[in-house]
Amino acid sequence: MRPLLLLRRAAVPLTTAPLTAAPLGLILILLRPACSSGPPPDIPTIAPYFGTKTRYEEVNVRLQRDALSVNASALRAPRAERCVPVHLTAVIRHGSRYPTAKNIRRIHKLADLVRTEASRGPGDELRRWDMWYTEDMDGQLVDKGRDDLRLLARRLAAMFPSLLSEENGRRRQIRLDSSSKHRCVSSVEAFQQGLHQSWGVKDVQYSHQVNDELMRFFERCRGYVEGVENNRTALVEEEKFKWGEEMEGVRRRMAERLGLPHHRLTPDLVEAAFILCSYELSIRSLHSPWCFLFDEDDAKVLEYKSDLKQYWKRSHGHVISSLSSCPLFHHIFRTLDRAGRPRRTEEAPPEPASILVGHGETLLPLLSLLGLYKDQTPPTAQNYNTQHSRSFRTSRIVPYAANLLFVLYDCQRGPRLQMLLNETPVQFPGLDGQDAPLYRDVRANYRHLLDGCDFYKECEVKPGGRGPNTEL
Ligand SMILES: *[C@@H]1O[C@H](CO)[C@@H](O)[C@H](O)[C@H]1NC(C)=O
Ligand SMILES: *[C@@H]1O[C@H](CO)[C@@H](O)[C@H](O)[C@H]1NC(C)=O
Repeated sequence: MRPLLLLRRAAVPLTTAPLTAAPLGLILILLRPACSSGPPPDIPTIAPYFGTKTRYEEVNVRLQRDALSVNASALRAPRAERCVPVHLTAVIRHGSRYPTAKNIRRIHKLADLVRTEASRGPGDELRRWDMWYTEDMDGQLVDKGRDDLRLLARRLAAMFPSLLSEENGRRRQIRLDSSSKHRCVSSVEAFQQGLHQSWGVKDVQYSHQVNDELMRFFERCRGYVEGVENNRTALVEEEKFKWGEEMEGVRRRMAERLGLPHHRLTPDLVEAAFILCSYELSIRSLHSPWCFLFDEDDAKVLEYKSDLKQYWKRSHGHVISSLSSCPLFHHIFRTLDRAGRPRRTEEAPPEPASILVGHGETLLPLLSLLGLYKDQTPPTAQNYNTQHSRSFRTSRIVPYAANLLFVLYDCQRGPRLQMLLNETPVQFPGLDGQDAPLYRDVRANYRHLLDGCDFYKECEVKPGGRGPNTEL
C-alpha cells in the first residue's frame, strides 16, 4: 500500500508537468529518494488488534519511521513554574517474545489440520508454510524484543537526559529491578545496553536485581490465586463469548476461506491462526499468509475476546486483581515521597530513576488500582456491540514493551507528578484536566490507598467473600 500511495500523491504534480509522457520507470526512479529508508513496511491491517501481542510501534506509529524519535511535547509540567524533572519511575513490560509452549502446540495442531484437510484459497500457501516454532522457545525474549527495550531506553534517555545520565549510571544511582522470568531479565539487560549506547559507552556492567515481590505480586496473593487464577467461573464472560455468535461468525468465515469442514475448526484453532499472524509480524517482521484468514472486523472480535480475558483476570473484573498490586503501588509512592521531600542543598540528591521490568500481568493490575481504563459498563459476552468505543483496549494499553512512567518535577509551587503510558500523557482519574498536578493533590486523591491497600489483609481474605467489581 505505502509505495502506491506515495506514487499517487507525488504523481499529481508530475503528471500536470510536461513530464506526462515519461515512462513509469522513470517516475519511479525519480521518486526513489522520497521513499526514505529501506523497503516499505508491509503491515497487516489487523496488526493494531493483537491485544497483549501487539507491537509497540502499532501504538506509537511514528516509531515505524524513526524508532528513536521522541515527542518532547509529551512532557507537560507548567512552563511558568520553571519545573525540572527530578525523578523517573518506569514500570515496563518485557519486549516481543516467542509464543508459550501451550500456544506452540496449538499452532502445530492448526498447521497439521490445514496441511491435511484444507481444500482451497490460501490453503496452498499455508500448506507449504514452514512450522519453525519449537516448544523449547517457550515465551523467551526474541531479538526484536531486545531491540524494543534498547530503543525504549534510548528514547527515555533522550527525554530525561539529567536523570538517565551516564554519571548517574556510573554512580549506580539508577535502580533497576526485574521479574525473575527469563524474558524480563533479558529485557532489563537490553534496557541497560540501550542506556550505554546513548552514553556512547561500550562495556555494559549490569546492575539489576531480581525482585518478584514487586514484579510478580499476583502469584503471592492467595485471594487472587484461589479466587480468580484457579477459579474457572471467574472467566465465564470470555468462555461465553468464545462460543457466542460473534466468534461463531469469525470461525465460519475462516473455515470457508480455507475450505475446511466447519466443525473441524475449534475457537482455539481460530485464535491460533490469529496469534500466528501476530508472531510472524512481531518476531520476523513478516506479513504472513495466515493473516489473510481475517478481515478487520474479525480482528476486532478476537481482540474483544482477549480483552474480556484480561479485564476479568487482571483488571477491574475482580477487585482482588487490582489489590494484589498494593506492594508495587506502595513501593512507587515511597520512592516518589523520598524524591520529592524538601532537602537542604548539602544533602545528596534524590534517586534519579527507578526502572521496574515485569509483565503485562504486572502493569494491568497497577493501572486498574490507579483507576485507569474503567468504563461505565463492564465488557461482557453479551455487549460486544456497545463496547466499540471502550477505553479498556489491551492492544493500546499493554503491547510489548508497554511502559507506565511517573515523572516527578520540582516546580516553584512544589513537586508535581505526571503520568505517561507508552510515552503518551494520561491524567489521574479524579484530577481531570491536569497533566501534571501537584504531588500533594495526587497523594490526596489516592489517600484511601496510601492509608490502606494492605497486601496481607487483602490477599488473605477468604476468596469469594468479596463480590466482583464493587469497591474501587
Ligand atoms: C506528540 O504528542 C502530542 C501530545 O502528547 C500529540 O498531540 C502529537 O500528535 C504527538 N506528535 C507525534 C508526532 O506523535
Ligand atoms: C469464582 O468466581 C466467581 C465469579 O467471579 C465468584 O462468584 C466465586 O465466588 C469465585 N469462587 C471462589 C472460590 O473464589
